[in-house]
Amino acid sequence: MSRTESTGAVPSLAERVASLKTTAKPSSIQFEPPVGREVLAWDPVSGWRGQVLMFASNNYLGLWAHPHVSEAVQSAISRFGTGGGGSPQVTGRYTPQRRLEEKFSELRKAEATMLFNSAYAANLGLASALVGGPDVALVDADIHTSFMDGLLLGRGTTLKLAHNQAADLEEKLRLAKTRSGGSVVVAVSGLYGLDATLAPLNRIAPACTRAGAYLVLDDVHSMGTLGEHGRGAAEHFGVEEQVALTVTSFSTLFGVAGAAVSGPADLIEYLRLRAHSFTNSTAPSPLVAETVLAGLEVMEREPERLRQLKQHAAALKAGLAAQGIAATVAGGIGIIRVPPGMDVDWAREFLLRAGLYVHYLPHPAVPRHEERFRVSLSAMHRPEDIQRLIACMAQVWRTAAPASAPH
Ligand SMILES: Cc1ncc(COP(=O)(O)O)c(C=O)c1O
Repeated sequence: MSRTESTGAVPSLAERVASLKTTAKPSSIQFEPPVGREVLAWDPVSGWRGQVLMFASNNYLGLWAHPHVSEAVQSAISRFGTGGGGSPQVTGRYTPQRRLEEKFSELRKAEATMLFNSAYAANLGLASALVGGPDVALVDADIHTSFMDGLLLGRGTTLKLAHNQAADLEEKLRLAKTRSGGSVVVAVSGLYGLDATLAPLNRIAPACTRAGAYLVLDDVHSMGTLGEHGRGAAEHFGVEEQVALTVTSFSTLFGVAGAAVSGPADLIEYLRLRAHSFTNSTAPSPLVAETVLAGLEVMEREPERLRQLKQHAAALKAGLAAQGIAATVAGGIGIIRVPPGMDVDWAREFLLRAGLYVHYLPHPAVPRHEERFRVSLSAMHRPEDIQRLIACMAQVWRTAAPASAPH
């Protein structure tokens, strides 16, 4: 048998590798400091180099390069060095890690908090440890891959929910309760990064409470961007007390890899023993903890950052609508649907040379023929940056979108 032949319907590794070469186009762009609303970008493939406004990096409140955060990190390095120690179960924790757990418990109005090395690791650990044997997971169809990967490890039953359809959840909660005899875990994202829609938590959370199901909220894109104080989707809908476990990523807001999971003390204790991505992995370092603690202090002291982000989101939404460009905007994310027939390569090149760097979401990240541009907004942007983005998008749409295509 040759290296490219497979034995049955499932493609071989060699076939899967070969097929991906024709679909996925990873970005070759590299960035140089200083990191701010503008960065020096260059493409080692084409040799192009230029200053771009950064609309493709999740730095929602602009905390990454804040002087208070930088000072806290420098001070932490001189006191703790760079290491995380070892698995927290074996090594224990440094003071900043414990302080961060306490801070998150306060913020989330929860009894306890544990730290993971990323939200990917957190979701993987939660899903695999929570849903086993007779348990049932009801997960939104667009839940992050990390949660789905964890469910495969846990080997409970998984039922997918129609995206953001509370009625479907209510129906499946009834079914799951009567059939399984085990526990029911519901997992949703507060704000979905691929379509910029909010989970209808005002219906989801009470439905879970009524059914006695554990609600797991992936707050990766809504923490720092939604709610009066930026505490995320549950604050936005006024249902914080009804969420069992909340996952917060540090990467979208604080610029360091790591995550916090907050919830009832007994569940967190159970996860400390059963979530392998926690027990068998080195803890996030005190450096990470000090970075996030300092970022949280800035969030509290400078509420104008959240106000600015919300103003940018409103301006982007109104500006694109005025240009007839179909878009969804929520929190710090704008999703712009690519109309059928648009010359996307030309459009991306045009935007880059106009000094704007936005994400492009190709298949398989989104369904085929539903490709999108994703704009990540930051409090660091200036109002004129948003207007420049809208004007350039309008120019792209006028030039590269077929006139007959629905915008
Ligand atoms: C909804 C959602 N959950 C989890 C993750 C993983 O986050 P992290 O970067 O902290 O691993 C991401 C990031 O891609 C995400 O978008």
